[in-house]
Amino acid sequence: MSVTQQAAQRRTFAIISHPDAGKTTLTEKLLLFAGAIHIAGSVKARKASRHATSDWMEIEKQRGISVASSVMQMEYRDCVINLLDTPGHQDFSEDTYRVLTAVDAALMVIDAGNGVEAQTLRLLEVCRARNTPIITFVNKMDREVREPLDLIDEIERVLGMPAVPFTWPVGMGKQFAGVFDIRHDCMRVFEPGSDRVSEPPETIQGIDNPANMQRFGDTFEQAHQEVELVRAASPSFDREAFLAGRQTPVLFGSAINNFGVREVLDALVDLAPSPGPRKALQRTVLPDEAKFSGVVFKVQANMDPAHRDRIAFVRICSGRFERGMRLKICRNGKEVRTNNAVSFLSQRRDLMEEAYSGDIIGIPNHGLLQLGDTLTEGENLQFTGLPFFAPEMFHGVEVADPMRVKHLRTGLMHLGEEGAIQVFRPQTSGMLLLGAVGALQFDVVAHRLRHEYGVEPRLMPSSYRMARWVTAESPEELKRFMSANAHRVALDAVDAPVVLVGHAAELTVLKERWEKISFHALREHAGLVFQSGLHS
Ligand code: G4P
Repeated sequence: MSVTQQAAQRRTFAIISHPDAGKTTLTEKLLLFAGAIHIAGSVKARKASRHATSDWMEIEKQRGISVASSVMQMEYRDCVINLLDTPGHQDFSEDTYRVLTAVDAALMVIDAGNGVEAQTLRLLEVCRARNTPIITFVNKMDREVREPLDLIDEIERVLGMPAVPFTWPVGMGKQFAGVFDIRHDCMRVFEPGSDRVSEPPETIQGIDNPANMQRFGDTFEQAHQEVELVRAASPSFDREAFLAGRQTPVLFGSAINNFGVREVLDALVDLAPSPGPRKALQRTVLPDEAKFSGVVFKVQANMDPAHRDRIAFVRICSGRFERGMRLKICRNGKEVRTNNAVSFLSQRRDLMEEAYSGDIIGIPNHGLLQLGDTLTEGENLQFTGLPFFAPEMFHGVEVADPMRVKHLRTGLMHLGEEGAIQVFRPQTSGMLLLGAVGALQFDVVAHRLRHEYGVEPRLMPSSYRMARWVTAESPEELKRFMSANAHRVALDAVDAPVVLVGHAAELTVLKERWEKISFHALREHAGLVFQSGLHS
């Protein structure tokens, strides 16, 4: 099959949801319906074992597990679907953002009892900023939940785009009778606890079919009226608008009961886009170009503490990958061998033979590959769009035992490269400064320094609350700015200068005073800064 056909068959997406909305359950059911696993329970069991320990970080130490489950591949109809897990921590972290840069669509799962919850909001913000198409799945209709009209309203308000129901729930909780498939004009009957995977549920054709009223009575009548309302009020589905992130199709179901899961898979195949063009500094790269290119969007270190190895997660952007290929790291011209590249089929880490645009491969290495790196067969390319966010929380870091300063620096360098935290070197102080966008990042880093580098870190309070990368039209101008502000300028992991302030007002003053300096809330990759609407 040609590279073009292979790329056209790929669907690469991430599930975004608030904890407990049903992400794990739905993931498992998607794998089950696609035939990638045969018994329900395996994904769940892993999560259960996660819960079993009180300290999630202990489990995070078993990195093999979280890596294997962070990308799952399945085949459904004639498509290859790559599902990328967004880290499931209670707290938000930068990792999650970056995973979203590697997908072409997102599936938002919401608990019908709770609607769109806080943790989903920031992720949606990223999707919106990137115009990532979003499919919405409203889960847990087998419970007493909120009125569907109310939920649709909320989805529209939060997403800031019209929601187009593809199905409509008939009843809920004990009265849940199924969903009415608006597009196919048929009732899909719910059977509680059914483990139907091989056959589709019973259907009753036609919204006016008396069989519906006979069987479901008032519950159906109410749903019927709502469907009429929705039909009149919602725009019709417009694929272009969906692909541009301006409309979201909505499906209702109950993941735990296997209900509505097949419709999600069908929506992914029928609606979600195949890999599209990706922007590099030099040019736009098309997914069906013959030559391989890819970008590192995640690095996970110390999977095996004995070997200090890391896995670089590469999203393929064009061409065909074949194991053993030698690839060029465009940042420094070095070569990386891919004999040990792994794919993430289902839950197994399999040795990967070939892969195409949209697929994710893992390349084990010892620090050669960094976040944001572009890999090619030789062409000089630098993909853009992998964001580093200006931290909003800061801590100075010292080591309790002065003999271990070097270990601290090594550990922080690794963890910084992995993107677990941002490390800054203030110009006028010897103490390293850690920056994060989520408080949990500090706990993770402290824990990992302790366990993986044998360093007992001491985190010190910091008065900084904001950081902005700074650039100028001329090096002289930048130098002037840096020396005038030496007390609050620091360099990040790739030596890009940032200015640190305690209040937004200070930043305003700086901006007024230094008109020729640009202040950026987002850095995209080594040496280059980019401003977006996010957090600006
Ligand atoms: P998460 O990954 O988003 O955190 O959620 P997860 O799938 O673990 O689901 C959270 C809880 O919601 C689980 O219950 C799960 O069984 C339940 N759940 C998922 N889908 C549905 C659904 O369609 N209907 C109903 N009623 N419940 C659903 P739990 O009690 O936390 O775990 P468990 O004891 O059931 O495993």
